[in-house]
Amino acid sequence: MAKLKVLTVVGTRPQYVKAAAVSRILRRAHDEILVDTGQHYDFNMSDVFIRELEIPPPDHNLGVGSAGHAEQTARIMLALEPIVQSARPDAVLVYGDTNSTLAGALVAAKLGVRLAHVEAGLRSFNWAMPEEINRVLTDSAADLLFCPTNSAVDNLRLEGVVEGVHNTGDVMLDTLQRFLPRAEETSRLPGELNVGAGSYILVTLHRPANVDDLQRLAALLDVLARLEERVVFPVHPRTRSSLAEMGYEAASNLTLIDPVGYLDMLWLEKNARRIVTDSGGVQKEAYLLGVPCVTARAETEWTETVDAGWNTLAGDEPERIVEAVLQPVPAGERPPVFGDGHAADRIVELLS
Ligand code: UD1
Ligand code: UDP
Repeated sequence: MAKLKVLTVVGTRPQYVKAAAVSRILRRAHDEILVDTGQHYDFNMSDVFIRELEIPPPDHNLGVGSAGHAEQTARIMLALEPIVQSARPDAVLVYGDTNSTLAGALVAAKLGVRLAHVEAGLRSFNWAMPEEINRVLTDSAADLLFCPTNSAVDNLRLEGVVEGVHNTGDVMLDTLQRFLPRAEETSRLPGELNVGAGSYILVTLHRPANVDDLQRLAALLDVLARLEERVVFPVHPRTRSSLAEMGYEAASNLTLIDPVGYLDMLWLEKNARRIVTDSGGVQKEAYLLGVPCVTARAETEWTETVDAGWNTLAGDEPERIVEAVLQPVPAGERPPVFGDGHAADRIVELLS
């Protein structure tokens, strides 16, 4: 097996979680150049993940920071292109559906470098989501499409894409399995927040459709305030800006905290009575940990979790969250739709 040079592009919170699994296996046999775009830059949105997930220090940090879609994507491309040109990697590896993903994909495709996309084939069929645009465009440029689920493979087939498509399983399961024991041993959050198993609802919200629209966000907060139990809510910086703009003062049952590191988050997820979220990663982790989830969206890319009865879509009516969190724990099994925790091994093998 020839030794490859792979250039990996990360830059946001969920991408560190995904890359942690692949980088570890990849570096056993190949060379990796890790490029952090700097799309996320607060300590608890970036460095905490690099540290906790034992990701090697990035070789380049492009430091692009926050900006509108065109500017952010363009800044990444401008800074990334000369790095790819001088490194001449055998493949560029991108993850998920962020602006960092799309920028990496466009640079690789235009330079004629083999492009591999981890988390290919996901679709919400909602073109108003910036992520949907990023996914479709990245998949159309990719040579290797690593799908986490069967439905992702089906989505690509319906678009006529079959070559280079592989169901590898989901790399987020690899990372979860590796770090859950450490999360359970080390998290200090239960003491700091005075929470125990099953004593709270965990909430995360960061989708523009929920949090940039202040009326929508106010309606969601109102519903959370009416849940007659403790709510723990690590607040994404996008959401924090909207809360500041609203001059929001937390209701008495709501504990708003800064975003937490991965290990604390796994602890919070595992021990929550229910999870309410609009995050893709958190929906999956809820399923994997066996915690019933309510998704504050009208649709999801992770349809298997809904089909199995462990994820409820609240749709456009925040009110539906109230009844959904009171439903009993689903009786159904949780089939292993995200694979076996060895997605990264398969990805590295297919890259070679
Ligand atoms: C991005 C991704 C989204 C992903 C999410 C994961 C895009 C288009 N969106 O959304 O798909 O689900 O990351 O969390 O790529 N900010 C800070 N500090 C930071 C990062 C962001 O204060 O470290 C604030 C800035 O005000 C910024 C806003 O959050 O304008 C949004 O950040 P951005 O990276 O543009 O999008 P996300 O909402 O994080
Ligand atoms: N996460 C975390 N701390 C938090 C919120 C989320 O560690 O305060 C983790 C979460 O466990 C998952 C990933 O971040 O692994 C999901 O990222 P996010 O919700 O930002 O993005 P999405 O998955 O929706 O793209």
